[in-house]
Amino acid sequence: MRVIQFVFTIAVILVFSACRNSERIEPNITRVQQTKEQFRPHFHFTPEEKWMNDPNGLVYHNEYYHLFYQYYPDSTVWGPMHWGHARSKDLLKWEHLPIALYPDSLGYIFSGSAVVDKKNTAGFGKDAMVAIYTYHDPVGEKAGAIDFQTQGIAYSNDDGMTWTKYSGNPVIPNPGIRDFRDPKVFWNDEKGIWQMALVAGDHVIFYESSDLKSWIKLSEFRFEDDEDLGVWECPDLFKLPVEGSFEEKWVLIISHGTGAPNGGSGTRYFIGEFDGTTFITEQTASKWIDYGTDNYAGVTYNDAPANNRIFIGWMSNWAYAIYTPTKRWRSAMTLPRTLTLHKEGNTYYLKSKVIDGYKVFLESIASEGETGDFESEFLQRSHMSFQVSFDSDLKLEIGNQFKERFTFGYLKDKGIFYTNRSRSGIVDFNESFTNPSPQLMKIGDRNTLNIELFIDSSSIEIFIDEGRYVMTNQVFPENPYTTLRVLSQNTAISGFKAERIESTTK
Ligand code: FRU
Repeated sequence: MRVIQFVFTIAVILVFSACRNSERIEPNITRVQQTKEQFRPHFHFTPEEKWMNDPNGLVYHNEYYHLFYQYYPDSTVWGPMHWGHARSKDLLKWEHLPIALYPDSLGYIFSGSAVVDKKNTAGFGKDAMVAIYTYHDPVGEKAGAIDFQTQGIAYSNDDGMTWTKYSGNPVIPNPGIRDFRDPKVFWNDEKGIWQMALVAGDHVIFYESSDLKSWIKLSEFRFEDDEDLGVWECPDLFKLPVEGSFEEKWVLIISHGTGAPNGGSGTRYFIGEFDGTTFITEQTASKWIDYGTDNYAGVTYNDAPANNRIFIGWMSNWAYAIYTPTKRWRSAMTLPRTLTLHKEGNTYYLKSKVIDGYKVFLESIASEGETGDFESEFLQRSHMSFQVSFDSDLKLEIGNQFKERFTFGYLKDKGIFYTNRSRSGIVDFNESFTNPSPQLMKIGDRNTLNIELFIDSSSIEIFIDEGRYVMTNQVFPENPYTTLRVLSQNTAISGFKAERIESTTK
């Protein structure tokens, strides 16, 4: 493998411009900027306008992936929560639909899930879509009560277009627990019953029901000797096969308001056993689904085709979410990722891989092969992948001629991969956006890494070793990034591939 110095060679420029010409890609940066609302992603889901947080009610039905989401239609900051709604046939192009659930006398509509009631267990009709969500009563909260969160259900007989709230709400009253929310319901095939994971402060409670209306408590799960990670939120529970074996394990996902590895909120997972009543794990340390600061409240689809476990997270962080410098809308979702389970020695871990479908939208902007630095006006709507070998520290930079830059690399003596967005563009809207800088992720002693990047107008998603390690970060450069540069010495890149991603948003 050739050792690449920090030099942008003429040959590389020629190869890339020839490539661009042959593919008739001619719009210039100014035009890209003018036609696109600043920071609006090219291929990530955002609401058309106003505030969005958690993905809710992820369910596949009648050829559509439904995406409901925490939505406040009157402002670009959080407020009385509704469920916004969009759907997609491929998880790439989304169709915006009318608001699904509005607050009512029982409260705001907080996070939750959706199922398709194929056997009409609830009596709302065969194949009714049923949403199970948290009611958050702002009046009770203001009055100083602790029982202001309860669980409610609503149903739709027209594929999620119109909804009726169940007249017997709430279906789970509050047992005297302040943070009591975010029900994830799924059909447990082995037991032939609906089951629910619900968070309650610092633990999960499991319930089950035969009709989605009356729920019986099964058990609780706590992580012994746990660190203080703030309130537990947005649980998910599902079974996955261990790749390359006949073993199966259950995965419990929990989001945490504070204390994530690089600050603020983040999402953790536990691998263990669920016997239909109790979840147990032999895991002794926290495992995080993403070490970047912008992947929160993520959950997976019910009923996805081919049993795929497709995960979508909210691409922000409660530490600074309400301050990010977008105007008409605020917050995007992460790219949809397929989760798979792997085992190395006695350790189980998840890999996150962006769904394959994006390849449909890819158009090569660089020939495959060995290269060093790379320049393209489409860098900020691209997918890049390469292998990198090094024998000392590694440092790469995504940037532009205006010195806005996002750096990432590996500290050899510490076994740590890092990202640094402290000079990535607009960063001064809140101090926790750049604190800590750099962001760190321990990956052990390495001489090579496989790196995959998805770069959009206001995000950089980094996947290392086929998604074993992930860092998702928002960035707000005032001018588009156009270069990927290798800044470290003794760094060899091979198998480099960069592809432009077509815009899937308006
Ligand atoms: C997570 C969360 C949930 C809650 C929702 C309110 O981001 O705090 O626990 O249901 O957001 O919008």
